[in-house]
Amino acid sequence: MFFFKILAVALTFSNGLVLGNPAPNGQKLESRDIGTQLSAANHYGSPIPPWEAGAKPGWYYGKSPSLLDLLGLGGLPVLDGLLCLIIDILPGCLHCPHPPSHPKPPPSDGWTQVFSNLTGAIEADDFLTFGMTDDVEGCKQMCENVGPCFFINAYHDVNGKDGSPLLTCSLYANCHTAAEATNLGGQSQPDGSIDFIRQSDGFCFTGTG
Ligand SMILES: *[C@@H]1O[C@H](CO)[C@@H](O)[C@H](O)[C@H]1NC(C)=O
Repeated sequence: MFFFKILAVALTFSNGLVLGNPAPNGQKLESRDIGTQLSAANHYGSPIPPWEAGAKPGWYYGKSPSLLDLLGLGGLPVLDGLLCLIIDILPGCLHCPHPPSHPKPPPSDGWTQVFSNLTGAIEADDFLTFGMTDDVEGCKQMCENVGPCFFINAYHDVNGKDGSPLLTCSLYANCHTAAEATNLGGQSQPDGSIDFIRQSDGFCFTGTG
C-alpha cells in the first residue's frame, strides 16, 4: 500500500496527471493543483457557499460518477481510486472516507435527525464544504472525514436536475435547526436555470452513547 502511494505521488508530480472526468468545456483538473483546490482554505473545492449565486459543489463521493456528465458536473473531482491515494497524504486536504467494513446500524450510528423534507437549506457561517453524494449515508461519511464536522444537510437542488438521484451534501462545523434552513433557492445558475431546494434533511452528530 505504501509503495503504491509513493508511486502515485511520483507519477502525479512528474506528469501533472489529469484527475476526474474531463468537463465538456475541456477544463481539466491538474493534480499539481489538487492540494490547493481541495484545501480547507478553499472550502474543499466549494469556496462559494450553496446559498450564494455561482455556488458549485466541490467533489463527488459515490458509485455513479457517470451521472455527473448529465448534470453538467463532469469536471468534479471524484473521490475514488488514485485521487484518494494522492489527497490522503496531502496535508490540510480533503480526505476520502474509509468506510468501516461493518457499518453500524442506523439507530446507533451517532447521528440524530433534526429536520426532514424541508424546501430550504441551511445558511450558516460555519459552512465547511458541499459536494454530491448518492445518499445520506455517503454524506455522513464525508462529514466524519472532514474535521471538525458535526452537521450534514442533504437535499435535492438544481444539481439534481434531470431526474438525478444525487443529493447535494453540505457540511457544517456545528449543529443547526430547521429555523436556519433559510436558503429557499432562487439563485440563478451559469446555465440560466434557477436553483430550488427539495427534500432537505438535517442530521446532527451527537456521538455514540
Ligand atoms: C415532502 O414535502 C412535500 C411538499 O414540500 C410533500 O409533497 C411530500 O409529500 C413530502 N414527502 C414526505 C415523505 O413527507
